[in-house]
Amino acid sequence: MFYALARPLLFALEPETAHALALKLSGVSALLASRPPACPVRAMGLDFLNPVGLAAGLDKQAEHVDALAALGFGFLELGGVTPRPQPGNPRPRMFRLPEARGIINRFGLNSVGIDAFVANLARCRKRCVLGVNIGKNKDTPNEGAADDYLRCLEALYPHVDYVSLNVSSPNTPGLRDLQDAGTLAALLAAIRRRREILRDKHGRNVALALKIAPDLDDDQIDAIAQKLEAHRIDAVIATNTTVSREAVMGMRHGKESGGLSGAPLREMSNRVIRALRARMPAGYPIIGAGGVMSGADACAKIDAGATLVQVYTGLVYRGPALVRECALALRAHCAGKR
Ligand SMILES: Cc1cc2nc3c(=O)[nH]c(=O)nc-3n(C[C@H](O)[C@H](O)[C@H](O)COP(=O)(O)O)c2cc1C
Repeated sequence: MFYALARPLLFALEPETAHALALKLSGVSALLASRPPACPVRAMGLDFLNPVGLAAGLDKQAEHVDALAALGFGFLELGGVTPRPQPGNPRPRMFRLPEARGIINRFGLNSVGIDAFVANLARCRKRCVLGVNIGKNKDTPNEGAADDYLRCLEALYPHVDYVSLNVSSPNTPGLRDLQDAGTLAALLAAIRRRREILRDKHGRNVALALKIAPDLDDDQIDAIAQKLEAHRIDAVIATNTTVSREAVMGMRHGKESGGLSGAPLREMSNRVIRALRARMPAGYPIIGAGGVMSGADACAKIDAGATLVQVYTGLVYRGPALVRECALALRAHCAGKR
């Protein structure tokens, strides 16, 4: 109700300004929100109160964690964060495509840097599972990328439940090349070794997830699936935004460069989830993201093979009530399957 009133105002503003304002208002929304009922899920060695998570990119600097947790999410993925601060791309860098219920963004991993991020995170109360999405700095060549991921993993380790490795944002030149088989194997091996050291040092395990693009063919998905198992990555997040423009051709802003999210991405991400589910062992956690705009869309992700779901663009179009709608739909859906 609150969002139905606020949305026309927000949509009249330039998208990034509206975004910042909506985040400031999330504290008010949280006061008005009725929390979703419990729908517990265990995955990645973690207990989730419900399977609905916030996707990476909404709270890039960990500045709104408590208010977002109060909206009823089962988990929050904060970031993407990079080791050193970087400004991202010049504005405008976010575009709404209301006809398609989509967004194109090319933020380019604007980040306060890992040290300031961790300082923000350390001030939060922990009320649900917390993950952080990490990437490399724009000016770090791919040969040095592993060091960027390792630095973020090390700094975050005492503060989070899982870390997601972003090798799929289309807005950092060359980043998606880290999904190529050889490069990915080297990166995952380095991360796995460091996690073992950190696990011994801190006496607790932090789960690792790999976040992949929707624009991969079956052979590429095959190769990635093998690497996930070989390097004991605990979960895969499918998917990030797409570089495809097929679904939005001819629309205003349809030709902007960047990653497309929301309804036009839904089937592409479901295809990747199905392909992963066919290749991974039963029970392997797949986090489905891409175009969840309703409770029915969340259920379709579970039917495709996802264990948990994440939302982002749906929040822009539907507001925070979407969280409860998805949690309720998934609870009924899962009860019906038992
Ligand atoms: C404005 C914006 C910023 C994003 N930033 C990140 C990011 O920093 N790291 C990342 O892995 N994904 C990022 N994403 C991708 C989302 O986490 C999600 O994977 C994608 O948008 C698909 O979900 P949706 O259709 O529900 O939005 C971003 C998406 C949007 C719209």
